[in-house]
Amino acid sequence: MSGHGTPIPMSSHKCGPLKGEAHVPGDKSISHRSLLFGAMAVGETVVTGLLEGEDVLDTAKAMRAFGAEVTRDEDGTWHVHGVGVGGFAEPGNVVDCGNSGTGVRLIMGAMATTPITVTFTGDASLNGRPMARVTDPIALFGAQSYGRSGGRLPMTIVGAADPVPVRYEVPMPSAQVKSAVLLAGLNAPGETVVIEKEATRDHTERMLAGFGADIRTEVTDEGRVITLKGRPELTPQTIVVPRDPSSAAFPVCAAIITPGSDVLVPNIGLNPTRAGLFYALQSMGADLTFENPREEGGEPVADLRARFSPDLKGAEIDPEGAASMIDEYPVLSVVAAFAEGDTVMRGVKELRVKESDRIDAMAKGLRLNGVEVDEGEDWWIVKGRGHGNVPGGATCESHLDHRIAMSFMVMGMAASAPVSVDDGSPIATSFPIFEDLMGGLGADLRRD
Ligand code: S3P
Repeated sequence: MSGHGTPIPMSSHKCGPLKGEAHVPGDKSISHRSLLFGAMAVGETVVTGLLEGEDVLDTAKAMRAFGAEVTRDEDGTWHVHGVGVGGFAEPGNVVDCGNSGTGVRLIMGAMATTPITVTFTGDASLNGRPMARVTDPIALFGAQSYGRSGGRLPMTIVGAADPVPVRYEVPMPSAQVKSAVLLAGLNAPGETVVIEKEATRDHTERMLAGFGADIRTEVTDEGRVITLKGRPELTPQTIVVPRDPSSAAFPVCAAIITPGSDVLVPNIGLNPTRAGLFYALQSMGADLTFENPREEGGEPVADLRARFSPDLKGAEIDPEGAASMIDEYPVLSVVAAFAEGDTVMRGVKELRVKESDRIDAMAKGLRLNGVEVDEGEDWWIVKGRGHGNVPGGATCESHLDHRIAMSFMVMGMAASAPVSVDDGSPIATSFPIFEDLMGGLGADLRRD
């Protein structure tokens, strides 16, 4: 788990052109769900392409604690022998989800309608994040929770012995909350209905349907209305996890800002609820193309080709698309620093409650490296300096946040002076091969 070990100070030095192919790891959201839904099915789910980052490994450990058998073959194939909906055993100890909001929030939802008592904890980052967004709706099913002040972990949840189905409108754009409610609904009788005003990533809906749940989504004036019939028997699946667009973002953005670069990032999932960054980059004048577009496992997939883009322009990023690129704003803000003019990002309050307050963490680091940023509660503006004019030279705090650490490493590849982070260890939560992969393309990353 990140944040429990020794910090790894890292620096990124101006490099030559980035060239070659970047084979990024499996999708984090789909990896968590593969293990969790596999654990709730009856029989053996087989998963290939799983992201073997710390976040997902913590979810694998948790599933074992709940009674599922989770094993890995030498070739990286994972097997999950599930216990069925409502079949979770009570873990014998505290469940530690490390750095992972997705892991803890989805698991809390999944156990909330089973009569077991579970205590959850995480690292310093996770233990500072809001959990009331999950404990409020699971209380409607009959679950009780006892956490620290501010609804924070460590927290004990007593699952409902006699759950009732709910109708719940998710108050913030959050796929984790939507998913937690749907997963609680799996073991409630009758129909659970979840309404979201803005579309967020829909992997839970797609995958639960794949596992045989009766789930349907209607787009109405209220928003997306998702109806799930409780108490299905989930059928085990064979899952090939697509590669993660949120990890692809790093080599793509690095190539766009580093002179002479030409990088191919093959097999990237382009589910419309995830792909917003790539269209935002194109609107800024990035040389980014989708090659060989195709469908795989019901998801749109393409090979991304990103080339150095000397004439980037700042842009107004469409707030309506915020959920489809919510994890990509930190690295987008780095690209914005290399563009001419302002990049305006609005409707992004959720960035303040991620692994870190991402507006604050990026604004501080960008300023230290000579880039001006204005910010408000739910917006920020990066004042682009244009290619060749980004000073760099400072050390930033990564705040136990993998995407903050990787974003500043990308910045150092094209800034005039090296950019450093106090701790690169959180990178292992989502992208354990980041240093090797970027080094293979030509980046000059150093452990200091
Ligand atoms: C995720 C949902 C998003 C995202 C996170 C993964 C998921 O979080 O930021 O990295 O897999 O459901 P929110 O639900 O907090 O928006």
